[in-house]
Amino acid sequence: MRDRKSWNVPASTFAKNTFNPIRNIIENMQIVPHPDKPMIALSIGDPTVFGNLKPAPEIVEAVVEATRRGSCNGYVSSAGTEAARAAVAKYCSVEDKLELQAKDVVLCSGCSCALDMCITALCSPGQNLLVPRPGFPIYTTLAVGLGVQTKDYNLLPERSWEIDLEMLEASIDDQTAAIVVNNPSNPCGSVYSKEHLIAILEVAARNKVPIIADEIYDHFVFEGQEYHPIASLTEEVPVLSCGGLTKRFLVPGWRMGWITICDRGNVLDQEVRNGLQSLSQRIIGSNTLVQGALPTILANTPQSFFTDTLAQIQANAELSYSILREVPGMNPIMPQGAMYMMVGVDMTMFPGLKNDLELVERLISEESVFCLPGKCFDCPNYMRIVLTVPEPQLREACNRIIAFCSRHHASAHVNGLAHANGHVNGCEAESFKNVEKAMVVEVKSGSE
Ligand SMILES: Cc1ncc(COP(=O)(O)O)c(C=O)c1O
Repeated sequence: MRDRKSWNVPASTFAKNTFNPIRNIIENMQIVPHPDKPMIALSIGDPTVFGNLKPAPEIVEAVVEATRRGSCNGYVSSAGTEAARAAVAKYCSVEDKLELQAKDVVLCSGCSCALDMCITALCSPGQNLLVPRPGFPIYTTLAVGLGVQTKDYNLLPERSWEIDLEMLEASIDDQTAAIVVNNPSNPCGSVYSKEHLIAILEVAARNKVPIIADEIYDHFVFEGQEYHPIASLTEEVPVLSCGGLTKRFLVPGWRMGWITICDRGNVLDQEVRNGLQSLSQRIIGSNTLVQGALPTILANTPQSFFTDTLAQIQANAELSYSILREVPGMNPIMPQGAMYMMVGVDMTMFPGLKNDLELVERLISEESVFCLPGKCFDCPNYMRIVLTVPEPQLREACNRIIAFCSRHHASAHVNGLAHANGHVNGCEAESFKNVEKAMVVEVKSGSE
């Protein structure tokens, strides 16, 4: 019998090692909005929160129908029903380039779960995983808990956030279990060309390292851009691609994601396929109502729904880019897809603010505009804005960012014009006057 005199119930090492850097940073931030200004959250990567972007009726109807059918209430195979997996295989196949079958698909509870399973299936404690910087922090959250180290490779802002391929290759060592490639990207909104994806695959092939492709923003690209699933461009490199309904179909809460096993060289047949099957048994599969609706959703969602959603996001990207690029000290980088834009902040132009974190905090307290600091993506001197907000709110947010910058810019300090009260002041800096004038015209025309 165990001799315990008092209660001592520690959390497991796994639980203690698991942390989300964004949560950590946000929980320690001063988030006190200006009392007279309604908050505009340009921070939340959930396209449904503002109510302007809704799933197509066909998508909703498919789940209603699956519910009524009454045959989707029980347990199914932990990797998903044959019909749902076959539908995903068809949806993710690329004619003559990538032919997938139901056996190549594992359904998961959202793309996060798909990433979790891929990282767990490929990486053992003590190994490392290469991840993009700036990048979505969940890769590190998932890996570190398992005792897997993440090594960052840089994305290059001056090359529309392409991967620094030399750094990527130099980071690979004997313990590298996989490379995570996120395209289109959160937080950058970049969309890689076929040539760049092939160059990434060449690095992977030379070093015999598999790829985990985070393709949750598949097809989510602006007019004139083309999306290429990375697995469609290789016959050699094994790719586990993670996707789902979350973003493109505007239903993040439905928690439907998937892994497609793309492995023309049959490298993953030896162990990893079975590993993924075993791991799927830990959660006994994903939501069966959405599985029941999946064949209809993937086949019947009208193209016009995707086009309309993207047109709104692209218009917001163009609007905020064209405004913010004129603001001294701000350097937005125009995205090519997804739903985010990174905005560089030249902190030397804001001498009263310590870093991007303080800039973001003061933007909240003075203007009630909430952007995520670059620190959340391990990328100082940037902030990320989401582009899914309704257009009038985005204009208003840009307007407030201009007012904020005009108060804190070095030129305002030199002229002794920096005000602490959070209201627009009479900054004399010519550049700001021009931007503000342009904004007044824009806002008037936009509200008509
Ligand atoms: C790059 C990226 N990967 C994965 C996810 C997670 O997607 P899901 O909500 O389907 O788990 C997100 C969500 O924001 C994301 O931005």
